[in-house]
Amino acid sequence: MSASHQLRCTNCGVKIATEAVRSDFRCPECNGLYEVIYPWSPGAGPWSAGAGKANVPASSAANPSTRPSSHTSSEVRLPNPGGMRHLWQERRTSTMAVDQSGVWRFRELLPIVRDVDRVVTLREGNTPLYEMPRSAELAGVDWLLAKHQGMNPTGSFKDTGMTAALSVAVERGFQWVACASTGNTSASMAAYAARAGLRSIVFIPEGKIAWGKLSQAMDYGALTVQLKTDFDGCLKLLTKLVRRFPIYLLNSVNPYRLEGQKTPAMELLEQMEWQAPEHLVVPGGNLGNSSALGKGLLEMKHLGLVQRVPKVSVIQAEGANPLYRWFGDANREMKPVKAETRATAIRIGNPASWKKASRVIEETGGWCEQVSEQEIALAKAEIGAEGMGCEPASAVTLAGLKKLVAAGRVTREERVVLVLTGHALKDPQYTIDYHRGELLTPAEIAGATELERARHAALRKPPLVLEADEAVVLRALEARMAVADKAGTQATPGSFK
Ligand code: F0G
Repeated sequence: MSASHQLRCTNCGVKIATEAVRSDFRCPECNGLYEVIYPWSPGAGPWSAGAGKANVPASSAANPSTRPSSHTSSEVRLPNPGGMRHLWQERRTSTMAVDQSGVWRFRELLPIVRDVDRVVTLREGNTPLYEMPRSAELAGVDWLLAKHQGMNPTGSFKDTGMTAALSVAVERGFQWVACASTGNTSASMAAYAARAGLRSIVFIPEGKIAWGKLSQAMDYGALTVQLKTDFDGCLKLLTKLVRRFPIYLLNSVNPYRLEGQKTPAMELLEQMEWQAPEHLVVPGGNLGNSSALGKGLLEMKHLGLVQRVPKVSVIQAEGANPLYRWFGDANREMKPVKAETRATAIRIGNPASWKKASRVIEETGGWCEQVSEQEIALAKAEIGAEGMGCEPASAVTLAGLKKLVAAGRVTREERVVLVLTGHALKDPQYTIDYHRGELLTPAEIAGATELERARHAALRKPPLVLEADEAVVLRALEARMAVADKAGTQATPGSFK
């Protein structure tokens, strides 16, 4: 048994050796999902021989990053917060790939591989934390930041999880890896598999994937299978296939994915000098990301790296809102939905990690909110107008924040961080359709408030098509510039059809 970590079922609590896990990563007792636990994890309980020795630096004067635990067995060493902070900071100047990775830089908190020098990394993580003054004003808060996970090597937060789980696949000797995906997981998996020299298969819903993502999977050499079903159907089928072939499953049911995806929480807190914001707002699809960030935050609190954690709120699209419905259901029954939203990344009706995510929301005191297609489109344009942009699924965060503020759940002076999960270039068709006025239906536009309609009108920038004639171009520019000057901002009012 690997001494550094074990797997614990998040449903029935049974603990197993890492090697004993089934290929579909489900508990044979109750079908629950596993989480990775370490000797120092909250509630880890008794540990087998050797616990705390592998991969976790030993406590010594030369290495101050561990300390004896005061409240677990005397053998177990809790990583030392001060020592770790120092070490993580120091690694920023290192020339080693593993130190330059924004995931493996925090490796004391994810000792999941035996030889850290063999991890598969594209120097993921290290993503910027941007101030969003204009969006803050629109949402009604004084201070708003965006942790832009779209600035990862393949353009989404999936890279932080993929480096972790794919490195485990390599260590276990797998030749083939696979995932079901709405697009970003497949792009990320294909890239990391290519780096490692593994072969990859992606299952994606036919016709419901943004071109940027599909093209990436093909470019990185994955075998791409488009199935005539939705994401939920793809995952169901793949779960059956991995029981019959030696294929390593890289969906977020794989608990090692979440170990990597928890590290942006550490990076964020480090960027904020270990002062937790009051709120963290995350999009919700299959609900792996919110589960992972919550795990990271609660571990940091347990280890004393922070005194308190932000409230984690999850935002879903109205047409793909099973968790939102679950919170509103008096019987607390999870009822999968037939998902439909233009934010294709989160077009998921039967989220695998809903139990983990609902616990994170409850333990941190956050909320689950839903937003309409019109609200998503507006928020995406507003984030674009800040000069950073994101893909539609990421924009649900700003749209959801507006609702949380309106409901009095977030107050003006509280500090909020939005997690922007994907890059604007992932789904250019959505953006072009929006600016040409071809995205929203008349019914969706009719559902908007007057203020929202005015904001759409100011933000939409359809391209001008002109004769290549100096006088014609000058006249058109003069007219546009006069309108913009009158508005006093970058915004160009126009008709909103
Ligand atoms: N944002 C983006 C850009 C995504 O690609 C996803 C999920 C989410 C948010 C939701 O994250 O599933 O962890 O709750 N994309 C997956 C995929 C499902 O296949 O790429 P989640």
